Amino acid sequence: MTKPETTRDGARGDLIARVAGADIALSEGSEQVWLEVIRKMDEVYADLIVYESDLEKKNGELEEAQTFIQSVIASVSDVLVVCDESGAILQINPAFRELMGHDEQELVGSSLIDLFVAEDRAEAKTLCAAATRETTSGELRFRTSDGPSDLMAINRSPLFDAAGRRAGAVFTGRPIGELRRAYEALHLAHVELKQAQSRLIEQEKMASLGRLVAGVAHELNNPISFVYGNIHTLDRYRKALARYLAAIHSGVAVKEREKLRRAEDIDAVIADLEPLIEGTLEGAVRISDIVKNLRRLSFGAKTPREPVALAKVVETATQWAARSKKAKARIVTRLEPDLLACGHSGQIHSVLVNLIDNALDAVRDAPAPLVEIVTHAEGSSAVVEVIDNGKGVPDALRSRVFEPFFTTKTVGEGTGLGLWISYSIVHEHGGSIEIDAPPSGGARFTLRLPRATD
Ligand SMILES: Nc1ncnc2c1ncn2[C@@H]1O[C@H](COP(=O)(O)OP(=O)(O)O)[C@@H](O)[C@H]1O
Ligand SMILES: [Mg+2]
Repeated sequence: MTKPETTRDGARGDLIARVAGADIALSEGSEQVWLEVIRKMDEVYADLIVYESDLEKKNGELEEAQTFIQSVIASVSDVLVVCDESGAILQINPAFRELMGHDEQELVGSSLIDLFVAEDRAEAKTLCAAATRETTSGELRFRTSDGPSDLMAINRSPLFDAAGRRAGAVFTGRPIGELRRAYEALHLAHVELKQAQSRLIEQEKMASLGRLVAGVAHELNNPISFVYGNIHTLDRYRKALARYLAAIHSGVAVKEREKLRRAEDIDAVIADLEPLIEGTLEGAVRISDIVKNLRRLSFGAKTPREPVALAKVVETATQWAARSKKAKARIVTRLEPDLLACGHSGQIHSVLVNLIDNALDAVRDAPAPLVEIVTHAEGSSAVVEVIDNGKGVPDALRSRVFEPFFTTKTVGEGTGLGLWISYSIVHEHGGSIEIDAPPSGGARFTLRLPRATD
């Protein structure tokens, strides 16, 4: 734009305006008008300059923003498709173009629904027709140039124009096939692991049942063969005695009778009868003991729990154990009189008899055999400690003493079931049983049972 120039010409004061190269002389009257026009033009021109630079700046900013948005869209790995209200594609991102394997020109303008595989088209229609303002989603596959795509999680959000009217929808999608396959593999692995675990538990149960049965058979075998043998001998004795008595009853002569007495070894038979019967009885008692022990195992049926006065149970258990062991040990009890445990008094009693039995066995050869039984409350637990100054349990055996049939005692002295049964009973009660060594030597069994209040 050429700018009109105005100058004053010498002393005449005439205004000469040069517009587009032509000098026009103006008279004083119109001069004022022209000055006004020129001033206005000046102003307009200056404004225009400002507007233009403003516009250029805004344009620059706009271009920058657009490049930024484009590069963001291009770098998004999810597919992005913008459609108009009729479902025709307006814009796509490079991820979608790559997925479909078609040029942008081929894709833009086509109907999005047609780009899904035939089986998913009905679902695609529902998704595209959703009239909500919220985002809707579905799992669909595209029909790409290489065949059906991976399963994609598609989200659809409605698009609004500047006036707030619906202008179409934006679709984003990402493949979930991989994720789903990984999830399915994980799920399968989890199921298999659970099966393997329950098989293992089953096997372990069977194995421990097998151990139990083998142990029971072994334990019973001894007294049974003992009883069996004794019965055979007794039968032999019975026959000899019957023959001898028959001879007496038939009134044989003394000489004949004495001969028979020696031949049948009657004196030895009679002398042997007592130990034989005693031994048989012992065997029977042993068998009944084992059976009784096994019976205690069938406490699966839940018996109702009740408050158990521990002091009383400890006292009777001590008496029982001491009597059956004919113990020579000193037994000291320090009992909290009002301490109550929650459980089954019969079962707690048999646990205590087991522990005191073992303690009495352990101190048998000690110089000053001593067994102490102490009870006290400890938070929500009622605690019983059975402490002895016996031979103790070597560290290596600590974890084994609770195993079924683990015993260091000779056959006939121990079954190895006592602690195992005690352990099971205590755990049924929701308590615990632990073994350690008191500083003075020997062994200490600590029994913790849930405490009851009145
Ligand atoms: N107080 C104790 N002192 C030393 N050893 C013990 C004590 N209590 C248990 N044991 C060991 O634990 C083993 C298992 O005990 P238990 O299950 O009662 O079976 P059992 O008394 O029939 O042998 C015992 O044979 C013994 O070796
Ligand atoms: Mg025992």
